[in-house]
Amino acid sequence: MNKTIIKFNIDKRLKHNQADIFRDESRFKVAACGRRFGKSYLATYIILTKALDKKGNYFFVAPTFQQARQILWELLKDKVRDKLSTKINESRLEVTLINGSVISLKGGDRADTMRGVSLAGCVLDEFATIRDSNIVWQEVLRPALSDQKGWCLFISSPKGREYFYDLYNNAKTSDDWNSWQFTTLDGGYVDEDEVTNARNDLDERSFRQEYEASFESYEGLVVPYYDRELNASKEEIQEHDTLIFGIDFNVNKMPCAVFVKRNSELHLVDFFFGSFNTDALMESIELKYKSYKKIFHTDATGIANKSSAGGQTDITIIKNKGYIVYNLSRNPNIIDRVNSFNSMIKAVDGTRKLFVSTKIKKAVETLEKHFFDENGLPNKKHEYHDDVFDAMSYAVYHYSDYAMHQVKRVGMSGH
Ligand SMILES: Nc1ncnc2c1ncn2[C@@H]1O[C@H](COP(=O)(O)OP(=O)(O)O)[C@@H](O)[C@H]1O
Ligand SMILES: [Mg+2]
Repeated sequence: MNKTIIKFNIDKRLKHNQADIFRDESRFKVAACGRRFGKSYLATYIILTKALDKKGNYFFVAPTFQQARQILWELLKDKVRDKLSTKINESRLEVTLINGSVISLKGGDRADTMRGVSLAGCVLDEFATIRDSNIVWQEVLRPALSDQKGWCLFISSPKGREYFYDLYNNAKTSDDWNSWQFTTLDGGYVDEDEVTNARNDLDERSFRQEYEASFESYEGLVVPYYDRELNASKEEIQEHDTLIFGIDFNVNKMPCAVFVKRNSELHLVDFFFGSFNTDALMESIELKYKSYKKIFHTDATGIANKSSAGGQTDITIIKNKGYIVYNLSRNPNIIDRVNSFNSMIKAVDGTRKLFVSTKIKKAVETLEKHFFDENGLPNKKHEYHDDVFDAMSYAVYHYSDYAMHQVKRVGMSGH
């Protein structure tokens, strides 16, 4: 095989901030970059160049195996095609290159599949959202790099000030380590108009985190700008209203939020809590709101038959009653749900589009008190804050501009 075809012209193929990270010779690199900076693309480029350069085993890790398949696999296959590979294994998500190197895609959620190998290098894409990322790195991957003195690239948009933040900071003062921080605009693949749009769709802190790669402190409230007066709803349900339901399938609790829409505003007008299962909840809904048109948005895990009996899934129970269930094919990322919720509570330009009847005490309390835990995620330990927030946010997500843009950007299949 002619060796020249595997020498890329970096200046032509990478924008200059990407090339900066690429060219740096540190063994461990930590890159915090905004959404759509070109992180996954750059990561693919780096792992492929290194793997073509030195024969060995390489891991390309995404937060989950499913994400590895959805995001990295197509990218990698597109770059290797037939020219650079001799074997492509679709079920293991593994490519063998012409020089014998093997690049395997892995999910950070399956650490057991990564133990006990010797690696020449690895990439951890979206490192900040890998669960127990410190263990994945310290106990699993770092030891695997030891015999070959392998390299590692950590590349991610920031999420709070957790382990990725520590690595990023420590890299500034450790030998063999280097770190970078680039905004979405620095990448050059998203134009200024789009970033301005995103700024209007998001609350301030989320914008800084997602587009400016800033390590925002997420300690504190999940819905920091909620104001029980300014976000109070005085709407009543009208005879011809279509009721919009948000449900989190959770046995014995079955939190269910009820909204009506008024132009681009969403009003929380009722709440069900404490049904035993989906059947029981549906019975209460039918009893109270028999004659109304209804739309449902639910937890996607309804497919997994969590709280229903008799072989029916929660979602089919609702559908079998003749109602529409509008969901994405999988749950939106929790941070996206939080962001979209906050953008409806109060956008950067001050507009409020989400209103809550103050009669619904559980909802008001949740909005005022629900907080982020030490992992930067909404606290799960309270008796109902998380359930109530989930139920509301599964519905609210679908009515926010933020989510609309998000769905378009990531190309998720809708409904
Ligand atoms: N060097 C590059 N050359 C051509 N297209 C690129 C390059 N880097 C990124 N892109 C494109 O820009 C978009 C965002 O890149 P991606 O790697 O998915 O971003 P991120 O992982 O940071 O969200 C994708 O459509 C990708 O194909
Ligand atoms: Mg990516």
